Order: sequence, then structure tokens, then C-alpha cells
Amino acid sequence: MQAVIDPPTVELRAGLVDALTSAAARPSYRGGYWSFFTAGMLFDLAGYRADLFIDKRVIDLGCGATRPLTTSILFYLLGAESTLALDLEQPTDIGALAVSEYANILAILSGLAPVDWLRAQPDARVCRRKAADFDLAGLLAGDLYSSIPSPVSHKVGRYQDLSEEDRQFGLMISNSVFEHVNDVESLMACARKSIAVNGYVYTSVDFRDHRAYSQSLSPWQYLVDGGDHEPGYINKLRFSAMRSIFERTGFSVVACRTKRETPPEAISNALLPIYRSLTDTDLRTMEAAFLLRPT
Ligand SMILES: C[S@@+](CC[C@H](N)C(=O)[O-])C[C@H]1O[C@@H](n2cnc3c(N)ncnc32)[C@H](O)[C@@H]1O
Repeated sequence: MQAVIDPPTVELRAGLVDALTSAAARPSYRGGYWSFFTAGMLFDLAGYRADLFIDKRVIDLGCGATRPLTTSILFYLLGAESTLALDLEQPTDIGALAVSEYANILAILSGLAPVDWLRAQPDARVCRRKAADFDLAGLLAGDLYSSIPSPVSHKVGRYQDLSEEDRQFGLMISNSVFEHVNDVESLMACARKSIAVNGYVYTSVDFRDHRAYSQSLSPWQYLVDGGDHEPGYINKLRFSAMRSIFERTGFSVVACRTKRETPPEAISNALLPIYRSLTDTDLRTMEAAFLLRPT
């Protein structure tokens, strides 16, 4: 028999679903969207691997300041044993982040978060049990840190400066970070020492000149004028240099997916001398997602 729901309750339900889907699907700084997108990319690249994160420690390296815990909380709910969200920057707007995480958690539990659940193969009972570790009323009241369970942690600092115990991980997720790190080789050498033997690193790297976002300049602009959003904002490593660093520091590339575009002729004809010998691949690769394992 179909349950009868009176009209005011139907209205209430529509409002709740709207609020949860907009929190989960909104590509704003607080919405869960980019974390769910990152998880989707990872599952897409990795396929189903039971050993990817279940019962493992997950590090979100360079989690950012504007939604630092969303990826960590998602992976905790999906079955990670513990998580560490790490960034150089202090989070912004802690009360608002707490309320957003409340909405993100409910959106995940209600199946309203846009994640490729088939690939993640979540166990709904595990998700619900882990959600019970959060003080949801506390999150809704804007109280972030005392409302999250101790296995979900957040730190401000540099990865290389973490204690050895904090640095241990079975899965490192690092989204749009490595193009901003000025010493990728030392960071990866450090990660190689701390990764579990059966661990993975998932990273997506954006090779565009980031002035493309703030000033509508070409994504190849620095190849012709040597500039940057601000000096040192990106490290200007291209695809093959980044990949070589991963391999040199003891990782093998299990899977890699790239997004390529062809620069306009005006750019190709005006490359600075140091960029004229770039391979076609390095010139055209705008983004790459890598799944790495220790060799
Ligand atoms: C473009 S943001 C990406 C934020 C987030 N992952 C996202 O997808 O929205 C890059 C972040 O990496 C952080 N970062 C760079 N080097 C780092 C390091 N060595 N250790 C920790 N965080 C780092 C920066 O502080 C910055 O917030």
C-alpha cells in the first residue's frame, strides 16, 4: 500500500531535497560538488579495486581552505579507517563549513550526492554506522571540530613537516595541488617513504596558466610571456616532467587520463625560446589524472 503523505509534508520534503541536492551538487566553494567530482574521477580511473581505500588511512593533501573536509568525510563514510585533510592555509568560515558538511553527509546518506556509487560500491550499513560517529546537531549549529569523530582529522601545515606517524597513508588524494608545489620531487620522495606497500596515490594536475581563470588569458599564456598569476603560483612543470618525477621517486603509473587541446597558431608561433622544443604532448596536455603505486 502506498503511504499517504499530506500536502504540507510533501512540500517540506521537496524543500529538504532541494536544500540537500543544492548543497551536494552546487559547484560553489562550500558545496560538495568538487569533492564528489574528484571521487568520481578516481573511481573512473581506478575501476573497482576493493583495496583502494576500504579500512585504509586516506590523506587529502592540499585539501584547500574553502571545503577542506568534504573529501575526507566522503571517504570516511565510504569505508576509510581514518582520514587526514592537510593544507598550508587555515580554513575559511568554519561555521559555514560545519553546516555544509551536515548537508553533505545527509546528501551522501540519501543518495543525493552525485557520486558514481556503482564504482565506489559503498556498503549502506557502513555509511550509516560511520555517519553516526558525527554530531550532526553540532555541525548544524556551526561547531565543526568538536562534531567530527577523531579518525577524521584536519591539520594546517606542509606535508613534508608532518610527523612520520601522521604521514602514513594507504591512499593519498591530491586534487589540483602538484602544479602549485615548488618542490614536487622532495614531496614525492617523502610520500614514497610513508605509503603502505599496497597503497595508491591519486592526483590530478592542471597544467594551464591559472591566469586563464582569473584574467581570461590563454591557458598557454606563460609559454609566451613567462608570467604567472603571482610569481611562483604555479611551478610550470609540463606533463612529461611531472610524470618523470613520479617515476624517479619510486612510483609507477597504474593509470593516467589526460585532457588535451591544441593551442591557437598565434600561441604556437610565439613560444618563448625555452618552450620551443616542447613535445606536442607537453604542449597539448592541459590536465592529467594519475593513479600511482609504489614500485
Ligand atoms: C588549488 S588548491 C587545491 C585545493 C583542493 N584540493 C581543491 O581541489 O579544491 C592547492 C592547495 O595545495 C596546498 N599546498 C601546496 N603545497 C602543499 C604542501 N606541501 N603541503 C600541504 N598543502 C599544500 C595549497 O595551500 C593550496 O590550498
